[in-house]
Amino acid sequence: MAEVVPLHPLAEAHPEERPVLVVDLGGQYAQLIARRVRECRVYSELVPASIRPEEVHRRRARALVLSGGPASVYAEGAPRVDPQLFGLGVPVLGICYGMQLMARDLGGNVERTGASEFGRTELDAEADSLLFRGLPREQVTWMSHRDSVTAAPPAAKVTAGSPSTPIAAFEDAEHGLFAVQFHPEVVHTAHGMQILKNFLFEAADVPPLWTPASVIEVEVDRIRSQVGRERVLCALSGGVDSAVAALLVHKAVGDQLTCVFVDHGLLRKDEGLQVVETFDRHFHIPLVHVDARERFLSRLAGIEDPEEKRRRIGEEFIRVFEVEARRLGHVPYLVQGTLYSDVIESGGTGEVAAKIKSHHNVGGLPEEIDFELVEPLRMLFKDEVRRVGEELGLPETMVWRHPFPGPGLAIRIIGEVTEERLEIVREADAILLEEVRRAGLYRELWQCFAVLPAIRSVGVQGDERTYAYPIVIRAVTSEDAMTADWARLPHELLETVSSRIINEIPGVNRVALDVSSKPPATIEWE
Ligand code: XMP
Repeated sequence: MAEVVPLHPLAEAHPEERPVLVVDLGGQYAQLIARRVRECRVYSELVPASIRPEEVHRRRARALVLSGGPASVYAEGAPRVDPQLFGLGVPVLGICYGMQLMARDLGGNVERTGASEFGRTELDAEADSLLFRGLPREQVTWMSHRDSVTAAPPAAKVTAGSPSTPIAAFEDAEHGLFAVQFHPEVVHTAHGMQILKNFLFEAADVPPLWTPASVIEVEVDRIRSQVGRERVLCALSGGVDSAVAALLVHKAVGDQLTCVFVDHGLLRKDEGLQVVETFDRHFHIPLVHVDARERFLSRLAGIEDPEEKRRRIGEEFIRVFEVEARRLGHVPYLVQGTLYSDVIESGGTGEVAAKIKSHHNVGGLPEEIDFELVEPLRMLFKDEVRRVGEELGLPETMVWRHPFPGPGLAIRIIGEVTEERLEIVREADAILLEEVRRAGLYRELWQCFAVLPAIRSVGVQGDERTYAYPIVIRAVTSEDAMTADWARLPHELLETVSSRIINEIPGVNRVALDVSSKPPATIEWE
């Protein structure tokens, strides 16, 4: 195979950051593969199929994983990789479509045999193969393919088969080439993680060095070299991402960082207080705490339309933030808690520190002020951010906090936002979360919160007729908020929450449970 001469001198990456590159061939699981590799304490990134061999060299990649994909390898326009990738001396694992592409490019054959496999499939694996070492011969895997490899590459040996696909895995250990037809990254493949570990640790000899502590070390270095001696600004939202990003920057450049916390009065109970306690009192990070509750409330007066609420909150946030930023004088850098999933979804390439001009989240940034972004979480998934937060000493309640929308409780009051309604929904939410925590279910839920539809219904309390608000309980499980299922909370828990909310909160006489999944509903009500 052709020897590839690197175009660029090798960049000095931190050893724990030399990546396993997951080549995205259009499969729905490419991102999941990268996450699974990271769960093995090996740094991993997603890259497009167009990646050049020189780039693989430049990144000093430890291994490549070719993902699955929906295409047929012989179809026009099907994703391809540069076949020179297979001759770099960098170990390769092909999964599903990735396996078929390897077979095709390395002299084997792929055909539509008529024997498709979808879902649970029994595999018969060779115990003396590197990938299946230490695993039972018969094992359950998860497959999803129409085409099959009908001849392995000449230098490879077949290491597993299934009842309808005789070539379900092959390997050429001498050249570091491995391939499986099934998906080791999904939980339905019984020994999937062990197979990935065998590839990483046995076949590719990658050391498991990537830990929250090493992430902190690398990011601290990176932040220091980006901002030098300049000042940095960070808007804290109360959520885990901005908190972890701020702590990382503080660890890197200390008091060059100033945090601004705009309290818009739409947070959950005690969360504003906790931000101040944690950052100001505990970590001693310079914190500007702006009490803007009145301003936001008056901007929301009379507004019922959800999008108009969002727009006004976003705009008001920017106004308040701008005033504070100007007061601080010249600050060239702004911290953003952008996550790797945002980078991937926006088609990003992982390049750091783009200049922002237009797009921002609610609770985000002024457009006119020209900041350079510091994005220390840009290469991390949410659960990794949490682990880094724990390592940095962020309180458990903040680290594991459920996601919370920028416009806060304003979009959980269906109708006009008033002080009275905010008070009610905040108290109901606090009771619900307290009981869910007591039942040990908090971490099992993606989100759980109270909604206050601004309607009233009739009730009776202590012989008196009441005419008061209902509270709706919304609790969901989800992987990524794109889809969600309503959580089956135990009846005893619902009973306690209902009676506490009705008894303890004046103005509420009814509790209802939202049993809708997403789609067709959304997680939030507005
Ligand atoms: P939906 O309601 O669309 O929500 O199913 C999906 C996820 O996004 C959060 N969400 C928001 N986050 N600003 C935010 O920062 C918003 O305007 C917003 N709306 C919804 C929601 O809490 C859920 O996690």
